[in-house]
Amino acid sequence: MNILLLGSGGREHALAWKLAQSPRCKRLFAAPGNPGIAEHAQLVALDARDHGAVIAFCAAQQIGLVVIGPEAPLVDGLSDSLRGAGVPVFGPSKAAARLEGSKAFTKELCARHNIPTGTFRRVTNKDEALAALSEFSIPVVIKADGLAAGKGVTVAMNADEARAAVADIFSGKFGEAGAEAVIEEFLSGEEASLFAITDGHTIVPFGSAQDHKRVGDGDTGPNTGGMGAYSPARVLTPLLEGEAIERIIAPTVRAMAEEGMPYSGVLYAGLMLTPTGVQLIEYNARFGDPECQVLMLRLEGDLVELLLATAENRLASLPAPRLSDDTALTVVMAAQGYPGTPKGCGTIRGVAAAEAAGAKVFHAGTAIKDGELVASGGRVLNVTARGSSVSEAQARAYAAVDKLDFVDGFCRRDVGWREVERERG
Ligand code: AMP
Ligand code: GLY
Repeated sequence: MNILLLGSGGREHALAWKLAQSPRCKRLFAAPGNPGIAEHAQLVALDARDHGAVIAFCAAQQIGLVVIGPEAPLVDGLSDSLRGAGVPVFGPSKAAARLEGSKAFTKELCARHNIPTGTFRRVTNKDEALAALSEFSIPVVIKADGLAAGKGVTVAMNADEARAAVADIFSGKFGEAGAEAVIEEFLSGEEASLFAITDGHTIVPFGSAQDHKRVGDGDTGPNTGGMGAYSPARVLTPLLEGEAIERIIAPTVRAMAEEGMPYSGVLYAGLMLTPTGVQLIEYNARFGDPECQVLMLRLEGDLVELLLATAENRLASLPAPRLSDDTALTVVMAAQGYPGTPKGCGTIRGVAAAEAAGAKVFHAGTAIKDGELVASGGRVLNVTARGSSVSEAQARAYAAVDKLDFVDGFCRRDVGWREVERERG
């Protein structure tokens, strides 16, 4: 079968790498892709915002499955357009992608269906938001309602910060995404992510992970898209995972179907393990980046079969996907300056040596310039390794990182620290 993958980051490189291993994959196309993805796929210059062009490409190339990596095309309804044209697609509809695209939508769904999450207030202007702040204790969380490229969330540690966050959102800087906001109760505990694949009815757990959001070692400095991750997150014990599926994910999938917007694709739940039980922080309607990279390294089965069965509403007919008992860990190499303006075009050498050291190097933001591999984004490479423990996977990943020659890059040196500390006991 011919497959089209949309996206250009490390998540999509990991998906391309795994899709291409499937005996069912005849030709793999990727738009726009990146130099790492180009090792597995033919890159095509398609604009995912131009639904007509994507549909025409699928017809011309007899595409039997479209896999949508990032959230923006999902929230924009590309999967509806493709389904309307008869093309099987892995990724939720526009209505279902509101689980990521609108924080207020998700909070209200949780409230209607008794799904455990922090208390919240939906607000539509600055004055209403400022008044609502008095109902919450500090710390308090303020979020732009829509997609804000990870920049719309503030955990305010005092009243001034909370008011500044409100002013920021209603200043218009997030455009449509900041037309509304949600003020939320702060949840305390350890965070973990849980992934589930669903066709709207059948739900299969697809592994857990922990991300490292802050740019600096010891979880310091500004928030990023993620500086490293590992899977599984053992802090999410089988008992807690069961609780999360039963009380959060399953009721959500059921509610979405009941309310006429069945959710099909991967559901990524950001969870807080609070002293009183597992609570939902937020949903994403796609694989995490870089969490996808560690999940793909652990996946033992055929990814094409799994994604196609999801797209075709026949997940119940498949055996449950198997993830290795090994841990996978990924270290993000970023360009100096990230998460601010990254230094562009830094030369990258040593990828082959890093892979020879036992890691898989996924490209996140790279380009070829004058025949050389260079950085072309904030997050540049994801150096990903497996091991029988987090400590072992971590040692392998950093041994590979040390083979890279990327002077304009940096990484956190402590990815996996929580789990490594627990393993040391
Ligand atoms: P998000 O962009 O929604 O993933 O939020 C970014 C980060 O903010 C999360 O990963 C959490 O660390 C934190 N966060 C968001 N909502 C809450 C909450 N209600 N309580 C505590 N922390 C939160
Ligand atoms: N790594 C966090 C995310 O993909 O949203």
